Amino acid sequence: MITFQTEAKFDKQSVVVFLEKTSFQKKDIRVQPVALHNAILSLKESSQFGAESGELFPISINKRLILLVGLGKASEISATSLRVNGRKAIFSAFLKKVAEIEILPHEDKESTIQAILEGITIGGYRWKKYLTKSKEDTTIEIEDKKIFIVASPKKSYEEAIVICEGVNLARDLINDNADTVTSDFIEDTIKKITSGHKNITLEILNRKELESKGLNLHLAVNQASPKEPKLIIMKYQGASARDAYTALVGKGITFDTGGLNIKPTGSMETMRSDMSGAAAVVGVVKNALALKIKRNIIFACALAENAIGPKGYKPGDVIKSYSGKTVEIGNTDAEGRLVLADAIAYLVKNYKPAAIIDIATLTGACVIALGHDYSGLVSSDDKLAEELLRFAEDTDDRSWRLPIYPEIKEYVKSKIADIKNVGIPKGAAGALTAAEFLHQFAGETPWAHFDIAGTAFVEGSDRMYFGYGATGAGVRLLTQYLRKAI
Ligand code: BES
Ligand code: MN
Ligand code: ZN
Repeated sequence: MITFQTEAKFDKQSVVVFLEKTSFQKKDIRVQPVALHNAILSLKESSQFGAESGELFPISINKRLILLVGLGKASEISATSLRVNGRKAIFSAFLKKVAEIEILPHEDKESTIQAILEGITIGGYRWKKYLTKSKEDTTIEIEDKKIFIVASPKKSYEEAIVICEGVNLARDLINDNADTVTSDFIEDTIKKITSGHKNITLEILNRKELESKGLNLHLAVNQASPKEPKLIIMKYQGASARDAYTALVGKGITFDTGGLNIKPTGSMETMRSDMSGAAAVVGVVKNALALKIKRNIIFACALAENAIGPKGYKPGDVIKSYSGKTVEIGNTDAEGRLVLADAIAYLVKNYKPAAIIDIATLTGACVIALGHDYSGLVSSDDKLAEELLRFAEDTDDRSWRLPIYPEIKEYVKSKIADIKNVGIPKGAAGALTAAEFLHQFAGETPWAHFDIAGTAFVEGSDRMYFGYGATGAGVRLLTQYLRKAI
């Protein structure tokens, strides 16, 4: 639990003091009690602590633990470094058994406090549902600690925390087992979040409706799965009914085996995260309702499981899509673009949004191109792309625009159908050919596509302040875009 207090009280079990390097060296610090002030100043003389970024130093005064956290020079401090150091402080071994923490930021500036808050709420997240705890372990979990931040309270801080909770909701959905977070589970989650809100209505297409309406690409992807395929559409009215709607649709493959074009060992282990786009949409829905975003939005989750089995769709199949275009299946592992193509075409036809944005763990090629810190952004509309990118750096949902151009149509041509779900020549610009495939189903509607295959999930060493597992990629950027874009 986080609360704000306008002044430092130094009456808690522990105090975390953030220190900027130059002020520390100049002995110009805003720490009040004389004993603490002097202790910090004498440290400066002893040169045991230099306030370098990420440097931690514990001292004890009157049985109180004081943890100094270096931030480096003002010029090195960024929202990202504050989040990283916020997380570092909160997870520090020194604070493991401490129940109350007073946090004293180096300055009472809105953007600084906000970044520290994000470092605590997003950085403080850990996926531990399946970790059993030994009796000897008396660690107090972060969510059970009382955190007091010394800052003048602002509405924007409460909002920042709400947005981070949307991020963490998406992460919980992504991190859990694929057989737990099924399409039914996601439907239940959506119903819980939206129930009681009069300005949001649901349309849910299950197998039966998908069949009768002809979303055959979506059905094909789910064909080998015993689970229900679902397209869940939420119509959120945050502005005048006459205002245009923006559509946001997420890829929700609850598990991606690759299908008959099965993935090899090493590529399948994290494929429960292949619904990260849909999870991001759920996080944004929660945020839109909590923040009462003043915009009309169509949210959609395209949910299916790309399982493997004798019933599965097959390479070489030609399938008639919802849009009427026929699609040659070159590879059953290029399934995300299939469910999204039907969802995009369905939204364009039946909801006529002014713009459509999709978010998807779509291609390994995007991971090769941009790595794990930048999502790929492909858009047919410069203004839409620029507006989205405005929020990419501040939120750390860093994104980099990749090109789309008329000639790329040639790459997704098929000899036996209108379009093919893999690019030719094989392997060339895989992130772009996947995007172009989606583009053709958006038609004339301004469209933007985020490929979060590299950013949605952390496998190896910690990235920024995310720890292991789902990052909630896209939730912050999309929430801010929907709140603030013109
Ligand atoms: N879900 C994967 C993409 C992916 C790869 C996400 C790595 C996260 C991490 C997607 O469905 C897929 O399998 N794409 C194929 C497409 C190929 C068969 C044209 C890929 O990228 O290899
Ligand atoms: Mn796949
Ligand atoms: Zn996939």
